[in-house]
Amino acid sequence: MKLIGFFLFLIMFTQSCVSQNATNKHFEPGKIWKDTDGKHINAHGGGIYFEDGTYYWYGEHKDRSSIAQVGVRVYSSTDLFNWKNEGVALAVSTDLDSEITKGSVIERPKVVYNKKTSKYVMWFHLELKDQGYHAARTGVAISDLPTGPFHYLKSYRPNVGVWPLNFPLKNQETQKNDASLEWWTPEWSAALVEGLYVRRDFEEGQMSRDMTIFVDDDGKAYHIHSSEENQTLHISELTDDYLDFTSRWVRMQPGGQNEAPAVFKQEDTYYMITSGLTGWAPNPARSFSAKSIWGPWESLGNPARGKRAEVTFNSQSTHVLPVEGKENTFLYMGDRWSPKNHIDGRYIWLPILIKDEKPQIKWMDTWNFADHNAIQP
Ligand code: GAL
Repeated sequence: MKLIGFFLFLIMFTQSCVSQNATNKHFEPGKIWKDTDGKHINAHGGGIYFEDGTYYWYGEHKDRSSIAQVGVRVYSSTDLFNWKNEGVALAVSTDLDSEITKGSVIERPKVVYNKKTSKYVMWFHLELKDQGYHAARTGVAISDLPTGPFHYLKSYRPNVGVWPLNFPLKNQETQKNDASLEWWTPEWSAALVEGLYVRRDFEEGQMSRDMTIFVDDDGKAYHIHSSEENQTLHISELTDDYLDFTSRWVRMQPGGQNEAPAVFKQEDTYYMITSGLTGWAPNPARSFSAKSIWGPWESLGNPARGKRAEVTFNSQSTHVLPVEGKENTFLYMGDRWSPKNHIDGRYIWLPILIKDEKPQIKWMDTWNFADHNAIQP
């Protein structure tokens, strides 16, 4: 009898643990976030796509190192608090000749849906195996379902043979001794702003590292990435099927050293959050706004407020999610990297307040949207 009682207790205890897992009601930035199977979520440098009441969170599957051994993972949720592991959306290839072979670097995957082709399109930063960060390519894959499997299409350095829309004619001419300028000298900085690397990479295509995709209200999509040796952001229009670049592109903040771009729009204003350039180590975030995606982008400073704002609460931006059904509610998604053991990286999600047309992000140990509404200006 005692034994039956013990087993009944065990069953009830297990069920209560499972149901506790399924009923997270708060975000706890920086804590271990478990999926509905009780495992630490593995979706770093990610982004979220929303459809029919479900959020899909895509991110880099990381192991101890940050080299891709598995690919891009996807989780689903109906409330943003409780996430179900939906498996691997884009798998690394076992074919050694594949550009996305196991051992390549696959970072910052972003998924959008193309209404014209009814395909899900994933763009990501790709580095070829054993080449460090030298390749600086963007890669694209498609799927019929949000959970995948995504089929890899191609990768490249974009905008081959086309000048940016905001590039003065005089900058298109080859300037003498450009390539031999010593880094960080005033001459180098001036040459950089005037397009030293745009000219260098004109024939081969522009470098593309940290990136994001933004889809505007009219359905046009833009690829925003760190280029020119990570010194300048490039904003490029994608074709109607979202699978190619149209050749229309601009440079943003030449020499501004922005990485980790995340773009969102409130009414008719575009906002961008970025980080500075310190690898896996955190630095003060930056924010910008513009009335057109093509700019000009006005610099608004570090949006982080309060304790540890100078290192963005030990995080780096990856995506900003407009929260469905909640007006003017934007979620800052950042990564707290753990470079000695990447799988232990944490997620820093906080609400963004727009105050005096500037984004602000405040630290909260634990929060949900009810708290957020209470603190809206
Ligand atoms: C960071 C970048 C990450 C990753 C890392 C490699 O600055 O945001 O996505 O590329 O550098 O060191």
